[in-house]
Amino acid sequence: MAQVDIKNKCAIFIIFLFSLLIVGESTQFSSENLPITSLALKKEKLTHLHFYLHDTISGNNPTSVPVARAPTTNTYQTLFGLTYVIDDPLTMGPEITSKLVGRAQGMLASAGQNEFVLSMALNFVFSEGKYNGSTFSLLARNPVLSNPREFSIVGGSGLFRFARGYVLAKTYFLDETKGNAIVEYDAHILHYGD
Ligand SMILES: *[C@@H]1O[C@H](CO)[C@@H](O)[C@H](O)[C@H]1NC(C)=O
Repeated sequence: MAQVDIKNKCAIFIIFLFSLLIVGESTQFSSENLPITSLALKKEKLTHLHFYLHDTISGNNPTSVPVARAPTTNTYQTLFGLTYVIDDPLTMGPEITSKLVGRAQGMLASAGQNEFVLSMALNFVFSEGKYNGSTFSLLARNPVLSNPREFSIVGGSGLFRFARGYVLAKTYFLDETKGNAIVEYDAHILHYGD
């Protein structure tokens, strides 16, 4: 019996020591100059993605909703200040019925007083194959009437960790009265995930 008791006490002591180690580690804020290999990163690679974004403002199931405007927004032809939140489906082909590959979620605002230009902060999340759950983030100026226009990719998660890249976007379809649009996205992304 006494031996068991000593073993138990030893076990408790060891657990106590380990918990000190863990607490010690969690109080460390930074470690610098880590070898890049400490993250077991794969070789950086370039990936091309091609898909269509469907931005729907009208109808019973809009994926793009106005959330804010300035008191002066209506005095601008460009609707300066008008802000939307979007959750737009991304599809393989231009038809909304073609295969869903992800969604674009975030905000865009009319940011030009004299020019129709949007400022966009969007997260793209993918659902297709090995890309399922991976994201990249886009922070971009969007001169909506230019074709093609270029957006910057500024980061990512999952397969797209450390992402950087650009998108060439072209309007595939625009309903000028309703504001609905289908935009073709051609993205090149440098990233590390397999
Ligand atoms: C993507 O992952 C989610 C959960 O991680 C899962 O429920 C879903 O079925 C997956 N979708 C595809 C297309 O693999």
